[in-house]
Amino acid sequence: MDTSRRTFVKTVGAAAGALPVAGAGPAAASATIRGPGRPATEPAAFDFLDPRRHQAAPAGRVQARAEGIEAFAFDAYGTLFDVFSVTALCEELFPGNGDALAQRWRAKQLQYSLLRSLMGRHRDFWLVTGDALVNAAAGLGLDLTPARQDRLMEAYLTLVAFPDVRPGLEALKARGLKLAILSNGEPRMLEAAARSAGIGTLLDDIISVEEVKIFKVSPRVYNLGPERLGVDRSALGFVSSNAWDVAGAASAGLTTFWIQRLEAEPPEELGFEAHHVVSALTDLAPLVEA
Ligand code: LAC
Repeated sequence: MDTSRRTFVKTVGAAAGALPVAGAGPAAASATIRGPGRPATEPAAFDFLDPRRHQAAPAGRVQARAEGIEAFAFDAYGTLFDVFSVTALCEELFPGNGDALAQRWRAKQLQYSLLRSLMGRHRDFWLVTGDALVNAAAGLGLDLTPARQDRLMEAYLTLVAFPDVRPGLEALKARGLKLAILSNGEPRMLEAAARSAGIGTLLDDIISVEEVKIFKVSPRVYNLGPERLGVDRSALGFVSSNAWDVAGAASAGLTTFWIQRLEAEPPEELGFEAHHVVSALTDLAPLVEA
C-alpha cells in the first residue's frame, strides 16, 4: 500500500464507524441478473472513494423492467458529478498529494455530514465541504492558504459530470419522466454544478436537504422526493452510485437504482438492498420503457 493510501485508510479507520464504505447490497436485487463481472481483485473497503471505480462500467447486464416509475431523483455528488475531478487541481496546488487530498476531502465531507446529523448541529453542505477541506489539508500537513482554499472550493462548483449522465438524462426526459436532483448539497452549489455540467435544463427540480436541515441518510431527506415531485413513494426511482445512499433511500421506501460503477464493490451490510443494479445512467431508460 502506498503512503497516501495508507494515510487515507488510517484517516477513515479513525473516523466514526458510521463513515460509509463501499457497496449497497445488490443481493436483493431480485430483478437483477448480474452479468459476468470483473474479478474482485481490489481491496474493497475504500473503493467507493477510489477514482478507479469510475472506469468504464462493464456492459451486458440483463435487467427486469422497473414498473410504475413516474419520476427519478438523482444523488448529485459521486453519481452525476465526479467529486474526484478536483484531483488535478489538488495535485497542481500540492504536487505529490493531489490524490490523497481529494480522497481525504471527500471522506471528511461525508463523515462531517453524518456526524453533524447525529449531533443535531446542521451546517449547510457548502460550509461542511469547506470544513472538510481544512481538516483534510491539515491532516496531510499542507499549507492551505486562503487563495488555495478559494480555488479548490470554486472547483466544486464546476465538477465534471460522468460521461453517461447527459445521454442518460436525455433518454429519460424523452420518455416523459420527471427528473430531479435529491442531494445533501446546498441549493446554490447544486445549481452551479448542474449549470456547469450542462444538465440544468434537463432537470425539473433540484431538491436540497436544506429544506429539512439534516443530511442523508435521514428518511426526512428521502421523503422530500415524493413530496416535491408529487408522485407516490413507490413511483419515485432514486438513483445513486453511493451504495450507502441507496440503502438509505430503500429504507425510506423508495424504489432504488444503484449505479454500481465497479463490479467488485461489495454489498453494503445495512439490511436494505437496491431494487435494481445498473452500470450507468444510460441503462435506466430501457428499464422503464413501456
Ligand atoms: C449527495 C452526496 C451525498 O449528493 O453525494 O447527496
